[in-house]
Amino acid sequence: MNVLGIETSCDETSAAVVQDGTHVLSNVVFSQASLHAPYGGVVPEIASRNHVGRLPEVIESALAGASLGWCEIDAIAVTHGPGLASSLLVGLSAAKALSLRLNRELVCINHLEAHLYSPFLGSEVPSLRDSCPFLALVVSGGHTCLLRVEELGRCRLLGTTVDDAAGEAFDKGAQLLGLGYPGGPAMERAAGGGNPEAIRFPRGQLRDIPRGSGLSPDLCFSFSGVKTSLAYHIKPISRDRLGGALADIAASYQEAIVDSLADRCRVALEREGLDLLVVCGGVSLNTRLRARLAETASLMDRGIMLAKPEFCVDNAAMVAGLAGYGGGIRGERAWLLDASPDLDIGL
Ligand code: KG4
Ligand code: ZN
Repeated sequence: MNVLGIETSCDETSAAVVQDGTHVLSNVVFSQASLHAPYGGVVPEIASRNHVGRLPEVIESALAGASLGWCEIDAIAVTHGPGLASSLLVGLSAAKALSLRLNRELVCINHLEAHLYSPFLGSEVPSLRDSCPFLALVVSGGHTCLLRVEELGRCRLLGTTVDDAAGEAFDKGAQLLGLGYPGGPAMERAAGGGNPEAIRFPRGQLRDIPRGSGLSPDLCFSFSGVKTSLAYHIKPISRDRLGGALADIAASYQEAIVDSLADRCRVALEREGLDLLVVCGGVSLNTRLRARLAETASLMDRGIMLAKPEFCVDNAAMVAGLAGYGGGIRGERAWLLDASPDLDIGL
């Protein structure tokens, strides 16, 4: 079964063709990062306009890259939330139009569930079904959470961030240091050669979380403190002196974020008695994070599956893959769905 996937939830315009849920035939991603960089973050109006302008050619090249014709596509999958409303609408409208024109099934996909599926793309990795139950860490620009996944459609939230997402912490920290947008890769580059122990930034260890959430504080995250701490740390440093100290500051800042993510994973793996850690989302592209999580899993004698680098940031392969695997909402119900900017994970 060949699924054409479409992803336009934020600032990546992407289309992909995936066969039988795992075999990625093509994955075309047009990153709008350089268009948003002058503003220091994603401008929704610019994002949606560029999705409109770019999506047709991105879809055409995904089809060409897969060496398939329209008649060989069996279903159209699209992200319907969460994300920016005006951006989601572009992909959803295109998918509905294609589904109608080609008379193929429409599958609406939750962006977070697609991220969660991304480590299972590729025929050489075990399937999601064979890997359950597992602990999933979703770390992106908008979300940071830990989930216990029993099977597709059945998971339990163990922890989440009470303020900023990890990617947001990278982006805001990079902005404070004048490193530009997107902040994650810029911070990682600036941290190269720096001493991660030069400055001890807070690890966001929580004592309380809102009543009734049912979550344990030691499995939750808080990244607003590390950003504030960075702001205070650099306030007295003049611009000329900041340059010399930049590598140490960036490495220490990155370490604080990585450390809290690795710590919560360790506690969750132990407490839940799970044998496998599955990691996905844009922040999981971070080399230091990948190494620390691999080390944590290895020390605990647990397995780890990290999304391949090309499937970490937003992409349509994970959308088409999940649909091919059997996930998402289809049929009549899919047709009734609108863009859902605040969609939560339900798996
Ligand atoms: O998953 P994603 O593409 O979009 C969302 O669904 O949010 O993640 C984007 C986030 C941004 O915050 C970006 O700064 C971060 O992923 N990111 C990184 C790295 N590459 C991207 N964070 C840390 N290190 C990286 N190398
Ligand atoms: Zn994402």
